[in-house]
Amino acid sequence: MNAYAAFAKIYDRWQEALGTPFSHLILPKLDRTIEKHHIKVESMVDVACGTGTLALVMAGRGIRTFGIDLSEEMLKRAKAKVRGRNLPLTLSRQDMRNFRLATRVDLTTCFFNSLNHLLTFEDLLDTFRSVHEALKDDGYFIFDLNNRRCFKALWTKTSVAHQEDFTLIMENHFDPGSHLARASLTIFQRKGKTFWREQDMIQERWFLDGEVRRALRNAGFQVVEKQNFNPFSHLPFKGLKSFWVCRKVSSRYPPANEKLIGC
Ligand SMILES: C[S@@+](CC[C@H](N)C(=O)[O-])C[C@H]1O[C@@H](n2cnc3c(N)ncnc32)[C@H](O)[C@@H]1O
Repeated sequence: MNAYAAFAKIYDRWQEALGTPFSHLILPKLDRTIEKHHIKVESMVDVACGTGTLALVMAGRGIRTFGIDLSEEMLKRAKAKVRGRNLPLTLSRQDMRNFRLATRVDLTTCFFNSLNHLLTFEDLLDTFRSVHEALKDDGYFIFDLNNRRCFKALWTKTSVAHQEDFTLIMENHFDPGSHLARASLTIFQRKGKTFWREQDMIQERWFLDGEVRRALRNAGFQVVEKQNFNPFSHLPFKGLKSFWVCRKVSSRYPPANEKLIGC
């Protein structure tokens, strides 16, 4: 199944139904981080940009922005939002594990647990290496990840979002043993007097902090800051997510014989 093919059709409205879109929730934190670390952002890439909400804001500030995502359907929505606006924004369908940009950038962002969509340590490492390649020397990489607490609290029950024109049922499952989580989505979308039913499936993986740090180190990043946070004011859980600020420290990968697996 092509993940996000059906979900893309209601993704933005689902986020609005829940409250504030994640890109708008994370933006003040991103801005504070950019200011705190004096990061000069003239160019950036939003990896797994989805429907392009964050990329649009950043391009609207005059930042040369790239947005990459694997889902054609999510990108279709992003492109529709950009149409007719003269923004320095390039959107392309690419896999974060091996993406390439026309020019190197000052900043890479990757938000809303997009990195949790990678299901193996090797995929995480490949992604970090691609990000490293995309950044200028001393460039920054800022991202969030779901913590175990998030999977335990939110990925173990069924949730329903109901709006006039759609109903979304998310049946979630998390297996702490394998670290794998799955959301089976059933979407009913109103078309005139009837509702159309579609299915989607999203799989995620919980990564240990040690795995993330090891992959970052092996890809040539230094962790500048890491904190746990909960961006959702309506949820009473602390530390649902981790927020990482990393800096490219080396243009070379570690020696080929360094052991990469495990943590
Ligand atoms: C939860 S959405 C987040 C989208 C956006 N960052 C946001 O904040 O709304 C996860 C996104 O990751 C994308 N994605 C999953 N695996 C990917 C991969 N290997 N390469 C690029 N994008 C991927 C999906 O297509 C989806 O758009």
